Amino acid sequence: MPYLCQACNKTTNKWSGKCPNCGQWNSIITIEEKDIKGQASRFGNYQASYHLSEDSKVPQALYQATTMSELNNVLGGGVVSGSLILLSGEPGIGKSTLILQILDSIKNGLYISGEETAQQILWRANRLKTNLDNFKFLDETVLENIIATVLQEKPGLVVVDSIQTIYSTQIPNEPGNLSQIRLCTNKLLELSKKTKIPIIIIGHITKDGAVAGPKTLEHLVDVVLYLEGDEQYGYRLLRSSKNRYGSTKNIGLFEMTGEGLKEIKDPTMFFLESEFTAQKPSVFTIVTEGQRYFMVEVQALVSKTMFGYPQRKSVGYDLNRLHILIAILSKRLHLPLDNQDIYINVTGGLKIKDLSADLAVAAAILNSFYNHQLNDKIFAMGEIGLNGEIRSLPLMDEKLANALSLGFKQIYAPSGKATRKGVKNINTLAELNAIFKP
Ligand code: TYD
Ligand code: MG
Repeated sequence: MPYLCQACNKTTNKWSGKCPNCGQWNSIITIEEKDIKGQASRFGNYQASYHLSEDSKVPQALYQATTMSELNNVLGGGVVSGSLILLSGEPGIGKSTLILQILDSIKNGLYISGEETAQQILWRANRLKTNLDNFKFLDETVLENIIATVLQEKPGLVVVDSIQTIYSTQIPNEPGNLSQIRLCTNKLLELSKKTKIPIIIIGHITKDGAVAGPKTLEHLVDVVLYLEGDEQYGYRLLRSSKNRYGSTKNIGLFEMTGEGLKEIKDPTMFFLESEFTAQKPSVFTIVTEGQRYFMVEVQALVSKTMFGYPQRKSVGYDLNRLHILIAILSKRLHLPLDNQDIYINVTGGLKIKDLSADLAVAAAILNSFYNHQLNDKIFAMGEIGLNGEIRSLPLMDEKLANALSLGFKQIYAPSGKATRKGVKNINTLAELNAIFKP
């Protein structure tokens, strides 16, 4: 077949502007039949010639730990020699800031920027009180020049900011074009493997994460890191969606301050400090995110629909999940929610993925629906099933211990394996309803 999609490697008979398989635009190219035949005969001469040995393992010494333990955790110990790391995130989230802090903590780095001038980086470095002797700076966008510099300088770590701004002179495409991004990444991969120098490439993604580029590179690189957070709130989460050298379960938690990213060592209370100490009655829960616990406050507003369809809006809690939860509440408790607007707000800006927050959301909804007056802070946790049953989830016991230690007097959770003193077990929505119903 004469056409090939560069993004998904699918071959087709017909050229089109958009790949019918992966939906990528401008990625289909022609492949000459004779090229394929020529390559096939070349492949014929190769033989597998060696066995893997013990040396092939990554020895501990090849990890360079940074001074940020949150970052080391996510990386699985530190920066591994010869690895290619993709750091992506929305523009303005703090990638260049994080990079400068990494360069500050590893000796002999090389910072290549096609995004910013030396002056801009110097300004940021001063703000972060970076030790300028720790790294060199190269203002370059031509891949071939970058490779030549790395080979000559032999730095301890290379950072390319960003992959969208560099280009190879081997192909005519513009920087940022998919073919350029892939070619440059492949060449940098080769460079890191050959020289054993770790390379971090920065890639921008847009809000929906759909833009071609970083997404299509994930299979090429060894480690994929995402820096995410909320512009409005200062926190930043660093997660890895792929790591050839460690677990992808750990997340790093940072706060963006006037002097760069600061590590948050005890995240449990981070998202609600002021609400919590204010002693105001409200509904709280603890969610897990990358093996860390976060206490959040869940607010709900239920009010009669004045016009048209009832509104369902949510900040921080998944809207689809909210629709399901409302359907369960309507059906199992026979509540007339179809003429009620329902708004949910998780304070602090964390986007909850943990299903154990269901019970807190349901409690907040019932509380508002019945105009019930809470007289104390309550803590609720558990997943709600379609039949209105409340289920326990992993790590529940640890979360309950946390809630108890914070002094909650009303704690609601389904009876799991371990029932704790001070926890009221509720296993159905009817039991939850009884708490709030006048
Ligand atoms: P930056 O690292 O330039 O983002 P990216 O490289 O992902 O595009 O960070 C930009 C934002 O971070 C900018 O809005 C300013 C803010 N910032 C701070 O709040 N404190 C700081 O110390 C620094 C350096 C930046
Ligand atoms: Mg930047």
